[in-house]
Amino acid sequence: MADKGSNNAAQLSIGGNTIDLPILDGNVGPQVIDVGHLTSQGYFTYDPGFVSTASCESAITYIDGDNGILLHRGYPIAQLAEHSDYLELCYLLLNGELPNADQKAAFEHTISHHTMVHEQLVHFFQGFRRDAHPMAIMCGVTGALSAFYHDSLDINDASHRTNTAHRLIAKMPTLAAMSYKYAQGEPFVYPRNDLGYAENFLHMMFATPCENYKVNPIIARAMDRIFLLHADHEQNASTSTVRMAGSTGANPFACIAAGIAALWGPAHGGANEAVLNMLAEIGDEKNIDKYVKKAKDKDDPFRIMGFGHRVYKNYDPRAKVMQQTCHEVLNELGVEDDPVLRMAQRLETIALEDDYFVERKLYPNVDFYSGIILKAIGIPTEMFTVIFATGRTPGWIAHWNEMIGAPYKIGRPRQLYKGPAARDYVPVADR
Ligand code: SDX
Repeated sequence: MADKGSNNAAQLSIGGNTIDLPILDGNVGPQVIDVGHLTSQGYFTYDPGFVSTASCESAITYIDGDNGILLHRGYPIAQLAEHSDYLELCYLLLNGELPNADQKAAFEHTISHHTMVHEQLVHFFQGFRRDAHPMAIMCGVTGALSAFYHDSLDINDASHRTNTAHRLIAKMPTLAAMSYKYAQGEPFVYPRNDLGYAENFLHMMFATPCENYKVNPIIARAMDRIFLLHADHEQNASTSTVRMAGSTGANPFACIAAGIAALWGPAHGGANEAVLNMLAEIGDEKNIDKYVKKAKDKDDPFRIMGFGHRVYKNYDPRAKVMQQTCHEVLNELGVEDDPVLRMAQRLETIALEDDYFVERKLYPNVDFYSGIILKAIGIPTEMFTVIFATGRTPGWIAHWNEMIGAPYKIGRPRQLYKGPAARDYVPVADR
């Protein structure tokens, strides 16, 4: 039994002993109970999936899942989506404050002048089949960046860490566009320093050497907002993976590659691709009721992708902005009456009225509408998680930098052992 002793300690009464557990206060949000010294008392805590575990101290992003609140360095996501832009948010995540005009211009100049990748990296793509999933390519080529920088990187030197953060933010769109062009069998398009971040990405994706390509500014703004909405999200699975890899002192490019691998899962960043695949499987509005029934059936593995969240037990604030962006893009492209969007809206309405989803506080998350926007822009489904990874890079590297920039321990969870007790080896003749 644990009860709150003095204001700054909980008391755990176990086996006739009382153990004081310090209670630590955050600036916002729930207190935490420090159980770090329980091992010395002969106990581990047990929390599969880390549902109730704070893995670290951080000042980057705050989420209040019950109230649908998401703050980046204290700024609400809805205000950032309306007034800011992706590179400004990257600066904020990395530095803790919004840039003034000179700082913003200097940061944009720095990022744009790191967008090219080493020409040798092009050869890494040649080893992949043309039909390789672009996330497989991104895991490979991002990790391969380690080979180009590991000897010029002292992770204990803050200026080296800053340079690495700039390189990663700058190069991810280039690598992402290259993974698309490789699959299309089209020549890679070099980045251009006269274009904005999202505009440059779309130009590298869709331009060809045969003619000038002008990026639609409405689409560029929507792309920038999609990157912005994915930039960071506290200690999610892929960010925790980056922190775990970073805690061993691994090269940050390898850590980001580990984050990309973790993001790929359909329960995490792969959900945007899975939403479109799910809508394709449903096929028509008349099948929605059947699939909602399948989603509620414990024996059926089908889940409504883009719904539910480990933390948000209210509407994901990013989903609201994403839905608004979806209508803007489809309206701009004259496809407001898109059948896939109509089916998604119908599915959302039905699910939000169904007791199963209401009781479990399952609401649309950031992935529910993003795929519909990306599809409308002409980005293929298998590229959706690559877009998510590109957007999430500043969050990953800001968390890595925050951890490495202060005292940290190598991550090493323990377990509840359920295997056999010690026993003697049996020679094969006696088995
Ligand atoms: C992201 O952590 C982050 O911040 C992630 C992210 C980020 O920005 O980094 O926000 C990005 O990953 C968003 C989530 C994208 N994933 C999906 O959309 C996949 C579909 N969602 C589910 O797989 C699920 O909701 C999770 C994985 C997202 C959350 O799982 P939890 O919190 O572990 O919840 P759970 O599995 O314990 O579900 C609770 C109940 C269960 O039913 P009961 O056992 O109580 O009867 O809700 C049910 C689940 O079966 N449930 C769903 C459901 N999600 C949960 N039922 C139908 N459809 C769903 N989508």
